[in-house]
Amino acid sequence: MKSTTKRHQDITEVLDKPFTIRVDGKPIPAVEGESVLSALLASNIRHFMTNDYGTNSGPYCGMGVCHCCLLHVNGRFKQRACQTLVKPDMEIETNRNQVLERGKKHG
Ligand code: FES
Repeated sequence: MKSTTKRHQDITEVLDKPFTIRVDGKPIPAVEGESVLSALLASNIRHFMTNDYGTNSGPYCGMGVCHCCLLHVNGRFKQRACQTLVKPDMEIETNRNQVLERGKKHG
């Protein structure tokens, strides 16, 4: 599958052969061994999470602590982008929230 998004944020040249993952149906390049967060940031995708209050945000800590990078990955909600390694043909959906989709709201 040919990627339609170019990586913009790599500090050094990517030497490994990239493959694609799909983000909201759109293919983006990824490299084996990197996190989903790394692939998203390299393609300039930054605000991709909707929290339980409906607020849109993006990653904060980058090390698995803040839970500000939750995504819907391969049919599973609340997967941390910074702690999930990319795999070929991975399906990712941004701004999906299990609590909001089930109609349960806080407060
Ligand atoms: S960016 Fe903080 S948990 Fe992923």
